[in-house]
Amino acid sequence: MDILNSFNEFETAALQAVTAATDADALEKVRVEFMGQKNGRVRDLQKLVGTATPEQKPAVGKRFNEVRTSVSSALDARAEQLKLQTTKAASDFDVTLPGERPRIGHLHPITQVMTEFRELMGRFGFTVVDGPEIEDERHNFEALNIPEDHPARDPLDNFYVACASVAAGRPVLLRSQTSTVQIRTMESTQPPVRVVSLGRVYRPDTIDATHSCMFHQMEGLMVDRHVTMAQLKTVLSLFARSFLGPEVEIRFRPSFFPFTEPSVEVDMKWGDSWMEIGGAGMVDPNVFAAVGYDPEQYTGFAFGLGIERFCMKHYGVDDIRRFYENDMRFLAQF
Ligand code: PHE
Repeated sequence: MDILNSFNEFETAALQAVTAATDADALEKVRVEFMGQKNGRVRDLQKLVGTATPEQKPAVGKRFNEVRTSVSSALDARAEQLKLQTTKAASDFDVTLPGERPRIGHLHPITQVMTEFRELMGRFGFTVVDGPEIEDERHNFEALNIPEDHPARDPLDNFYVACASVAAGRPVLLRSQTSTVQIRTMESTQPPVRVVSLGRVYRPDTIDATHSCMFHQMEGLMVDRHVTMAQLKTVLSLFARSFLGPEVEIRFRPSFFPFTEPSVEVDMKWGDSWMEIGGAGMVDPNVFAAVGYDPEQYTGFAFGLGIERFCMKHYGVDDIRRFYENDMRFLAQF
């Protein structure tokens, strides 16, 4: 039948043209030429349907619809294909290339040690508290029984911060010790107290292998009825042994801190040398008075440990500056 032949020719020509179109514009031209509502070649086919005899009508009508559908879907499929190709080219995305393994980092050694310290002290019943790094003189000095004329308050030995509160007569400084958090804790809670606080402290020291103008401390404070120096010694020994191993020894040397009485310097023996790890002592009654605790009822101990010291000893690091230089060759070892 001539009519059906014309349909087949139309279909073959249209499908070839669709495949040959290599971009959206070309494809649009094909659509207009073959399927255009006004002058598309599909209009001629429609006219042919009108010339079919009544017997031919059902087969012709059916075939006409088939051809129209097949050309339309070929057009749509090709459009989709071309769209994918252009976005692919634009993003240079090649699904056949092997993947790139992401580089996963790890926590800084100081952060690792601090996390372990919190866990160890948690086992001894100490909760973790935090305090601000910018402090006022009450929390850094006064409530800690450090008088105005004490050398620790020399402006040259502290980082005072120039800001509006200075003009208002309330100087502020970067805290020089985490003992500030003892005061903040006792101001806001009643005994019994058993806390540790880990964080940064700042001192304008000359920087060398064992000194930095910023380092980390762990402060500990325990206040209750009948707290004794023996308990302080036990807690520090257990702590050091849990962290570095059962062979660690702790030594106390008499010392002085304005906020503890008696005060001690704590040394740790690990291998064959003693290393100073911090200060400690029994909380001075004047400190209790400053925060409104009754020194007749309560006693307590406090300690402050240098975290970098532990970290250096633990990992055999010989220069504190390595921790802050962000040298990946150093950091990647932990
Ligand atoms: N704050 C002291 C320091 O930084 C250490 C310390 C803490 C001493 C608690 C006694 C009690 O040197």
